[in-house]
Amino acid sequence: MGVLSSTVAFVVVAFLIWAPSMVAFAGNLYQDVDITWGEGRGKILNNGHLLTLSLDMASGSGFQSKNQYLYGKFDMQIKLVPGNSAGTVTAYYLRSEGTYWDEIDFEFLGNLSGDPYIVHTNVYTKGMGGREKQFYLWFDPTADFHTYSFLWNPAHVVLYVDGRPIRELKNMEGEGVPYPKKQAMIYSSIWNADDWATRGGLVKTDWTQAPFTASFRNFRVNGCVWSNGVSSCKSSNSSDKPWLSEQLDSTNQKMLKWVQKNYMIYDYCTDIKRFPQACLIAFDTQTKVVFLTIEKKATYKDMSALKISVYVTSAAAGYNLLLLFKHSTWSRINFKGSYLCMAWICFFLDQIAVYMTFAANTATLAASMLAITGSEAFQWLKVCDKFTRFCIQIGVAVLCGYAASILMALISTISAYKVFRMYSPKWFLRLKST
Ligand SMILES: *[C@@H]1O[C@H](CO)[C@@H](O)[C@H](O)[C@H]1NC(C)=O
Ligand SMILES: *[C@@H]1O[C@H](CO)[C@@H](O)[C@H](O)[C@H]1NC(C)=O
Repeated sequence: MGVLSSTVAFVVVAFLIWAPSMVAFAGNLYQDVDITWGEGRGKILNNGHLLTLSLDMASGSGFQSKNQYLYGKFDMQIKLVPGNSAGTVTAYYLRSEGTYWDEIDFEFLGNLSGDPYIVHTNVYTKGMGGREKQFYLWFDPTADFHTYSFLWNPAHVVLYVDGRPIRELKNMEGEGVPYPKKQAMIYSSIWNADDWATRGGLVKTDWTQAPFTASFRNFRVNGCVWSNGVSSCKSSNSSDKPWLSEQLDSTNQKMLKWVQKNYMIYDYCTDIKRFPQACLIAFDTQTKVVFLTIEKKATYKDMSALKISVYVTSAAAGYNLLLLFKHSTWSRINFKGSYLCMAWICFFLDQIAVYMTFAANTATLAASMLAITGSEAFQWLKVCDKFTRFCIQIGVAVLCGYAASILMALISTISAYKVFRMYSPKWFLRLKST
């Protein structure tokens, strides 16, 4: 009996020791983060289940994750500063070290009681930011905890609020756009930014309301821990890491569009004044329903119509040179029997040349129309507002192209004439007897 009860006691004690470490998986903040600044204004409470950061006139406060990560899914539940939080910024972000750091931000810009917070998002690569998008939320973020997440994998970065994607940044390194791919830590902080945060700095922090306190809990990471230059994901089986290849399915795409349509209030892409060329880096492939189920897919690569038109035009020019050569030399030689065959070949080649130049030109025209009008749906800017000279050149090129294809069409009537004059005027495609 004594042995049994002591075994039971052992099991119970073992369970009690073990149980908290299970909970820790769902985020024991003592294990996962360090409070790094704020002299006591940041606190871990409730056995590591709650963390608060405060700001007063003297200082803000902040914490950072103990681990570095290279890719992962990071969730944090945050309850923002209630009441009059104007002038304050609460931030939750991923950031790598060094001068050319990468960073992905959630910044929550406070407001007067009852006025909406703004979620300010930004992306830095190689130390360069300026890619802000701002959103209102569809709930009061001070009333309760809500989950704010980063999904960061080699294909894209997605920011989520309560599981709804609000912003996606695709890896477009192939197009020459830098992508965040340095190991990073999670940071969070609260500070005073009343020079810009609320209504562009018009509303200042009301220090009689201090301290301003935001709360954090349930920090959950599914990620590749980076330590001593080695990723924890290298060695282990990657089939149990769905987030490494997670994509936005069609439901998520719809949600993303819904948020961007209804709650996005600022987009650097459409801020032509500030970033004349901004969205050259936001180009994207998107499909648009043109008619019933017919979809039109557009890519920035559509612009390569310009390149193709150069090739086609050069080919046509080369062909014309050949013809010139042929007329100046071969016409003096009498080909007799093969003349008919030659005439037919010339006829067909001419036709092809005319159609090809016409088609290439039309594709060029379509592409340059995009440059002139932009495309709201694709967030493409009116390139011509900025690059006037470029657009005038394109315009002239397209005009010349059309003039050339009309000329070629006229000239091709000569080869047509050469072919058909050999046939009888009375009988369809029957050779003249003479
Ligand atoms: C604060 O409220 C004002 C008025 O509703 C609004 O224009 C502004 O976008 C809100 N948020 C911030 C951070 O300024
Ligand atoms: C990875 O795990 C899956 C199931 O968890 C298993 O089927 C597969 O064989 C594993 N692969 C490797 C390389 O261990």
